[in-house]
Amino acid sequence: MSLKEYFSHQARRPSGIFGRFFMPRVFDKGNSALNQSMVELVGAGGSDRILEIGFGTGTVLRDMADALTDGTVEGIDFSDTMVGVAKKKNKHHIMDGKVKLTQGNFDEMSYPSDTFNAVCSANTLYFWPDPEATSARILNVLKPGGALVLAFVGKGKMKDMPLSKGVFSLFFPEDVHALLKNAGFSSVETHPVNGQDSALYCVKARK
Ligand SMILES: C[S@@+](CC[C@H](N)C(=O)[O-])C[C@H]1O[C@@H](n2cnc3c(N)ncnc32)[C@H](O)[C@@H]1O
Repeated sequence: MSLKEYFSHQARRPSGIFGRFFMPRVFDKGNSALNQSMVELVGAGGSDRILEIGFGTGTVLRDMADALTDGTVEGIDFSDTMVGVAKKKNKHHIMDGKVKLTQGNFDEMSYPSDTFNAVCSANTLYFWPDPEATSARILNVLKPGGALVLAFVGKGKMKDMPLSKGVFSLFFPEDVHALLKNAGFSSVETHPVNGQDSALYCVKARK
């Protein structure tokens, strides 16, 4: 396996020593502006019930939980390595019941309908095997009026990065806009992060 292939598989699902010690640095440093913007757009507060899909190191879970009074942030990630890292980072919030972590694949979970005030996910869209089906699942678990915030790096930048095309599917913001509209979301808005040139985007939509 080439280095490009190996790194791409690690980005999709970190594992082993490399996943435990190298990928958290990549995620926390490289994805911080995008993640911060996603947190602002979710705007967690009060007694909100929030779900993050693919939480990686768990920084976003911690930041959102900090903003809650008696709400909860649930996270699902299918990498046992990342669940271990996020567990450590969220130790206090897990103990006080504000953060709940699940190891698993979002596409295989059966959350009840109309459960969450907001669902968010950063840098996971590239790996969704069936984006239409996953969007529909998210719509189903959101409460009416609830918000989805999807954060990603656009195809304009990603296409020039040394990543495996077999692992990463790339999206322009207009692709994501159309995906969510077709899935039945309303008020779909694209928010460029750090201006248009950075090619970082959050797309926010409502049920
Ligand atoms: C590229 S990392 C992004 C981590 C973090 N969101 C960030 O932006 O720094 C993708 C993460 O999503 C997880 N992931 C990808 N697809 C998933 C799925 N279908 N269900 C649960 N976790 C998933 C991976 O295990 C990994 O931790």
